[in-house]
Amino acid sequence: MSEKFQVVVVGGGPGGYVCSIRLAQLGYKTACIDSRGVLGGTCLNVGCIPSKSLLNLSEKFYSAKNLSDKGIEVGSVKLNLAKMMQNKEKAISELTKGVEFLLKKNKVTYIKGYANFKSTNKIIVTDNKKKEIIIETEKTVICTGSEPVSLPKVDFDEEKIISSTGALSLKSVPKKMVVIGGGYIGLEMGSVWHRLGSKIEVVEFLDHITPGMDGEISKELLKILQKQGIKFHLESNVKSIKKGTKGIIINTSNKEGKKIDIECDVALVAVGRKPNTAKLNLDKVGIELDNKKRIKVDNKYQTNIKNIFAIGDVIEGPMLAHKAEDEGIAVAEIIDGQAGHVNYDVIPGVIYTSPEVATVGKTEQQLKKDQVNYKVGKFSLMANSRAKTINETDGFVKILADSKTDKVLGVHMIGANAGELIAEMALAMEFGASSEDIARTCHAHPTFSEALKESALAVDKRAIHS
Ligand code: NAI
Repeated sequence: MSEKFQVVVVGGGPGGYVCSIRLAQLGYKTACIDSRGVLGGTCLNVGCIPSKSLLNLSEKFYSAKNLSDKGIEVGSVKLNLAKMMQNKEKAISELTKGVEFLLKKNKVTYIKGYANFKSTNKIIVTDNKKKEIIIETEKTVICTGSEPVSLPKVDFDEEKIISSTGALSLKSVPKKMVVIGGGYIGLEMGSVWHRLGSKIEVVEFLDHITPGMDGEISKELLKILQKQGIKFHLESNVKSIKKGTKGIIINTSNKEGKKIDIECDVALVAVGRKPNTAKLNLDKVGIELDNKKRIKVDNKYQTNIKNIFAIGDVIEGPMLAHKAEDEGIAVAEIIDGQAGHVNYDVIPGVIYTSPEVATVGKTEQQLKKDQVNYKVGKFSLMANSRAKTINETDGFVKILADSKTDKVLGVHMIGANAGELIAEMALAMEFGASSEDIARTCHAHPTFSEALKESALAVDKRAIHS
């Protein structure tokens, strides 16, 4: 006898568990299948959540060592890495249990095991004892996420040659770590280990870090991270990574073709992620993939097989937990015959370095490419009183508004609290705000948010404090 569901959600990460809850709220008999053994996917277990725990604690450690010049004398500050890791594990455990509780509360059936398609409405689930069950379903939503990619012929051992997963659980602080890739993961995890005492060198293929980000913000972030002591090798390609007797040797070549070997104790490979679409038997049911092995969907997240949908990292778009969550809600509502929708023009992105980088909407480079006429309003945190009082004056806010209509098209910022402040700008953009709307909104003093108002005033060349 096989169990029957109206909708089966494959994957219990932010996309999948949110989708399952929404489906259950809408009255569907829903199952969520996940093989990890705990819910929450990459984000909660080996991604956003553990990295934010370590980013926060490493920042506290780093700043505690530098308190005396601000008038706070502390004794010697010592790192207890094992305890720091325990603290991270506690946060993960509480949050993943919380997700399991939410599924139970909403009467979603949680099935632990690996899902494979047997047909368009039959799924085989294999548990960790290799026991198989067959699930029948009217509709399926695939949200199996993504995994780190490595370089050709480089395997992760997660101790010396590590992915983001290994970078979250090192047992000691490496003397020197080379980070391959100057993207989100490389810069966040590089920052963690730098603050804990590692010498960090980042090797980046392009002539800039954080590809796709507004150029000016990317340059400023590079400058700030260099000032903090992180070394960058731009326009450098990693050819191979070899394990020597003493450590790891990274063979790189620069833009002139000169070969440079960099030695280190640990190499973090952070060159992107690939969608988890390989082991689902998608070909058996004839689901079409694109050239990046992502599942092809239409604007209703429907694959070429009408009762199978896909969302999150397995489809096109930024590999971000909040994008997957919103798609999870949208697809559940679409399945219910409602007008589920995600506004892809207003998906914020945050890099949790110190200071943080946050961005929403179009970059200057995109607007130029699209031949859109725009105005720029910029405001430096040097002139923000709150930033000054807490010694956090690195960074700026930049608002891009349509030259003719004044509608806000993009906001890019680097500075303390940027990751929280961006929410105000996303909301403003969702409501179709003009820069004048932001400029006319009263912002509390003294707060970082005043920099948003000032940059909106600067769009019209009337900032008060600069
Ligand atoms: P990424 O795509 O952000 O950056 C990878 C970098 O590696 C690129 O700059 C690329 O030019 C460089 N690269 C590629 N091959 C190279 C080579 N052979 N030598 C030197 N450099 C090379 O990828 P990343 O950082 O691995 O992140 C993966 C995904 O995870 C991203 O889509 C990101 O959005 C997501 N993520 C989001 C976070 C957040 O929202 N805060 C945090 C961590 C990850």
